[in-house]
Amino acid sequence: GTAGAPDAPEAPGAPGTPVPPGTAGKLARLARLRERAADQAPERAVRRQHEKGKLTARERIGILLDPGSFRETDALLRSRDDGSGAARPLGDAVVTGRGTIDGRPVCVYAHDFTLLGGSLGEALGSKILKISELAQRTGCPLIGINDSGGARIQEGVTSLALYGEIIRSHVEASGVVPQISVMTGPCAGGAVYGPALTDLVVMVDGISHMYVTGPDVLRAVTGEQVGHDELGGAHTHASTSGCAHYTARDEKDAFEYVRLFLGYLPSNNLSQPPSFPSRTDDEPTEADLALDTLIPDSPSRGYDMLRVIETVVDDGELLEVHQQFAPNIICGLARVEGHSVGVVANQPAHLAGALDYNASEKAARFIRFCDSFHIPVLTFVDVPGFLTSAEQERSGLIRRGAKLLYAYCETTVPTVTVITRKAYGGGYGVMGSKHLGVDLNFAWATAEIAVMGGAGAVSVLGRRRIQEAADPEAERARLVAEYEDTMCTPYLAAERGYVDAVIMPHETRSEVAAALRTLRDKRRSRLPRKHGNIPL
Ligand code: HXC
Repeated sequence: GTAGAPDAPEAPGAPGTPVPPGTAGKLARLARLRERAADQAPERAVRRQHEKGKLTARERIGILLDPGSFRETDALLRSRDDGSGAARPLGDAVVTGRGTIDGRPVCVYAHDFTLLGGSLGEALGSKILKISELAQRTGCPLIGINDSGGARIQEGVTSLALYGEIIRSHVEASGVVPQISVMTGPCAGGAVYGPALTDLVVMVDGISHMYVTGPDVLRAVTGEQVGHDELGGAHTHASTSGCAHYTARDEKDAFEYVRLFLGYLPSNNLSQPPSFPSRTDDEPTEADLALDTLIPDSPSRGYDMLRVIETVVDDGELLEVHQQFAPNIICGLARVEGHSVGVVANQPAHLAGALDYNASEKAARFIRFCDSFHIPVLTFVDVPGFLTSAEQERSGLIRRGAKLLYAYCETTVPTVTVITRKAYGGGYGVMGSKHLGVDLNFAWATAEIAVMGGAGAVSVLGRRRIQEAADPEAERARLVAEYEDTMCTPYLAAERGYVDAVIMPHETRSEVAAALRTLRDKRRSRLPRKHGNIPL
């Protein structure tokens, strides 16, 4: 490797190698340069990388892209010679280029940690900017593979400037082309904000860390003692902070997830998502019929909403995002009759499916993501309401819950909602109700659509009658049963037209597919404005 040593001149051939004259010499010179560019990492650094369970930049790109599809750009770009004798590896510490995933073009960059710790200076930053610009001009996804010591210390403020420009480029591309960040190493300081602006952040368990300030600085400044993993590991960000959408077991798993994810997306906001031929099958299957017995007789018992989703979507396949974060709401990509959909669903198996601020933000961001890339939103509702607690209120449940309302109201893609059981109070309103502009709304015969459940309602409305009754508890039970029978049904909503049809659970797959077929050519645009002001 030559990275650590002062640079050798670019003349072809090692000393002593005969240099052919004329054209042959010129071709030989390029061949030599190419060889050098592809193999300049110090062996020790590559070994260390592998020992940590990490792959090199080129190995990563090889796994991510279709075999043989990678075309490198800027392999010869490098930093200016400032006369200091500092290492100036060809291509600097990042590999950039284009290739295909499932035959569709993508642009990619991968920090090369084996050279200068993948740190970002002027040359590296300008390569990322160039490839990002190419992705935007050609309308293809941009995938960044991050493994870097952050701003290149030797280059001072220049590195900070490039980070700033990269951040601006991510914002320009947001909603135009899908942007994906795969975290395969350290990521600190301002360097985490680039990935944070992208549509999907995938972390690899054990080898990737993200934090604004690392454990050492934290200890020095605040005295707080926290380890790398606890502070910024994959598990922390996937389950607690929500900064990561997926925790991969290893790098292969990370790239496989990215390939699957992109399969549901269009290449850009002017194209439709890819679709696959499929035939309509309205005959109820065994799985459809099983939904008729899914809802427990007791309203306080949960069930697994994934069973409903898996019955409705093609091949039972749902690619969840944020699976470990706010599990009381499910968000993921799937297909119905070969066409992509974004599924948003309360999960009664967690917190009874109640909405808290994390669930609201998770779903809001997902809905806006779907809307920006023409992916219809399919919502399944079983929600007792918002999770009320002093902690939730103090942390901004109003402000953060409002994002979900905003996201639904703002959609222009086809939207379909199915209420399976509870749709109470604010939860009813927020979860893709007709009133927010959803196109087609269904309620199962088991739906309970009301301001509140029986126990709560009777404690407000029946207080005097219960007190005056000879047997207060019997009277309470009678009033609850009466309330539930009249108010906790789908029929008041159906009378008002707030649901378009009340259906048997086993009819869901067929009804949802037909609804999405009807809506496929939906066109809706909003009045012009600079941009809305979503509560952040
Ligand atoms: C220049 C760097 C570097 C950096 C690492 N290297 N980080 N060179 N600038 N920021 C070099 C090392 O000197 C070393 O070179 C090689 O990369 C590998 O690094 P190691 O330390 O040996 O690797 P490891 O032990 O795995 O530790 C990785 C690390 C550590 C945790 C990332 O290198 C580290 O703490 N680096 C500094 C991180 C940091 O504070 N960055 C600035 C963040 S602020 P040799 O030649 O010895 O192999 C920021 C602001 C952005 O990014 C602002 C945007 C607006």
